[in-house]
Amino acid sequence: MVLGSGAGLALGVLLVYLQPWLGSISCNSLPVYAAVNESVTFHPSSHMPFQEILWKKQKNKVIEWENSEFKAFPPFKGRVNLDPVSGNLTIFNLTSSDEDEYEIESPSITSTNKFSLYVIEPIPSLTLTCTLTDQNIIVQCEILEHYDSHPELLKYSWDCPSDQCKNNSAPEMHFDRESDHSQKIQCTVSNKVSKRTSSIILATCFPSAGVSRGRFPLLLSVAFVGALVSSLSFFCLAKSRR
Ligand SMILES: *[C@@H]1O[C@H](CO)[C@@H](O)[C@H](O)[C@H]1NC(C)=O
Ligand SMILES: *[C@@H]1O[C@H](CO)[C@@H](O)[C@H](O)[C@H]1NC(C)=O
Ligand SMILES: *[C@@H]1O[C@H](CO)[C@@H](O)[C@H](O)[C@H]1NC(C)=O
Ligand SMILES: *[C@@H]1O[C@H](CO)[C@@H](O)[C@H](O)[C@H]1NC(C)=O
Repeated sequence: MVLGSGAGLALGVLLVYLQPWLGSISCNSLPVYAAVNESVTFHPSSHMPFQEILWKKQKNKVIEWENSEFKAFPPFKGRVNLDPVSGNLTIFNLTSSDEDEYEIESPSITSTNKFSLYVIEPIPSLTLTCTLTDQNIIVQCEILEHYDSHPELLKYSWDCPSDQCKNNSAPEMHFDRESDHSQKIQCTVSNKVSKRTSSIILATCFPSAGVSRGRFPLLLSVAFVGALVSSLSFFCLAKSRR
């Protein structure tokens, strides 16, 4: 046990020591996020002028540039573009099956250039639903329709006058039943490619809308009197102008 933790510590120290060196050889691939149907560009860093280029998706060829000729391979034929000066590879009309690791191969490349592509569906619309318990109003922020495109990338955030909305990343929010019912609760859900927002007034969580129903005719009559007064004054003004 003691030996085990000692070895673990030594390994930890070694890794910390090696960290800058491991970072500079950059064997890790760079994560790149893009939306379905959109396009993505991989931009190779540190290279000399290219004589030939091969872009690969794992072991499969995507596009090749050799003797000033381009050759694209299925399923990328007709939806890839390669710029031989920058080495940039652009893929159009992305589908979820394009999600993979991509790499450029060329004698002119001076360090490994690997990209991990994540193809993500934009978030569909949101809905806020409330549940009333004895003490609480629970507001739940849900994505409409069945959505399962990289749920680990979803981020929730809230905006409301109450303190619990600050820095809260849970998909649901609890309010005291006694809290201000006139406050507006806003939920925002985002991933790397899209963002959706929805909001409700806490009062709408309560089924009996008796108060607002009582006020409605009053508001209407105020509006009616207002309209009457302004049309009368317009009438008088028009008359006095003659
Ligand atoms: C992508 O495009 C196809 C065909 O135009 C369409 O059916 C599909 O709904 C689009 N998907 C998204 C997420 O926009
Ligand atoms: C290559 O791609 C990068 C990143 O998308 C972009 O900033 C740059 O302008 C591109 N260069 C060319 C020549 O297209
Ligand atoms: C992308 O898809 C749309 C419709 O699905 C099509 O009209 C368009 O030509 C495609 N673009 C490319 C570059 O393949
Ligand atoms: C939210 O939390 C992060 C980290 O926990 C902190 O750095 C930040 O200042 C907080 N923001 C607010 C508005 O409290």
